[in-house]
Amino acid sequence: MAWNSLQLLDAREARTADEVFECCVQHLRFATNGGRIRSTITVFQETAHDERGIRIWNHQLIRYAGYQARDGTILGDPQELEFTKKVTQMGWRPPSVKGAFDILPLVIEVPGTPPKLFELPREVVMEVTITHPDFSWFADLHLRWHAVPAISDMALVGERRKFSAAPFNGYYMGTEIASRNFGDIARYNLLPVVAEKMGIDTRSRTALWKDRALVELNTAVLHSFAEAGITMVDHHTASAQFIRHIENEKSQGREVPGDWSWLVPPLSSSSCPVFHRSYSTSTPLPHFIKQQRAWI
Ligand code: ARG
Repeated sequence: MAWNSLQLLDAREARTADEVFECCVQHLRFATNGGRIRSTITVFQETAHDERGIRIWNHQLIRYAGYQARDGTILGDPQELEFTKKVTQMGWRPPSVKGAFDILPLVIEVPGTPPKLFELPREVVMEVTITHPDFSWFADLHLRWHAVPAISDMALVGERRKFSAAPFNGYYMGTEIASRNFGDIARYNLLPVVAEKMGIDTRSRTALWKDRALVELNTAVLHSFAEAGITMVDHHTASAQFIRHIENEKSQGREVPGDWSWLVPPLSSSSCPVFHRSYSTSTPLPHFIKQQRAWI
């Protein structure tokens, strides 16, 4: 959608893990831009289709560690449990007091050398403390999230070309953080916590406690990003923008493929125009593909 404002950082000259790391730091600095987030891609050295090439092991440049205690309880992001375990085995030392939002180190592997760990400088990781416009207790949940979502484990492939490391970012839509990262049972699982604080009866399904908690979580995330002056889009706006994008492209004779389940927001789906249509499932090149996890 933001293809015509996408910024490209050419890092094809980077050879060592240190150089790759430096470019990732540069990427974050450039993309964050003090909160006026710029959609950015950094392209590292090209590799043959059957070769491994440079790999950034992290799923995203910025992610929070997940720790499982002996009794099974999880602190932090459950999605990062395995990766956190892996980097710990490789020598990463979590903060002396572990928290729910500890930033993971980057793991960078260049061909011919073992992967190397790097701690991100604090100043390139912009974060937002989550508060609610009406509920002052929300701040007591001590929630925060990072400003820039930068996917770093996918490959950019064309017909004959492959870039095994090409981290890219856009900016967040509120639901990604509020509904999914905070709300999913397999993530921070906060709906029961929020509903309880709101004083809703969580035993009655028809009280729609999950739905009401979701709305307030989403309100809080949108409010907090706006207050902090960090680019974010709400799902209604994003949905309308996407429909406009489809129309623009159509007028140029191009079709916009898409995945309904990705395009439709997880909150108030049917009140968004993207819900009420279908999308072509073609996958024109170049595109991003999932790669096998780097540490397996
Ligand atoms: N949903 C992912 C997350 O919560 C980010 C995926 C990319 N999102 C984006 N707006 N470009 O971290």
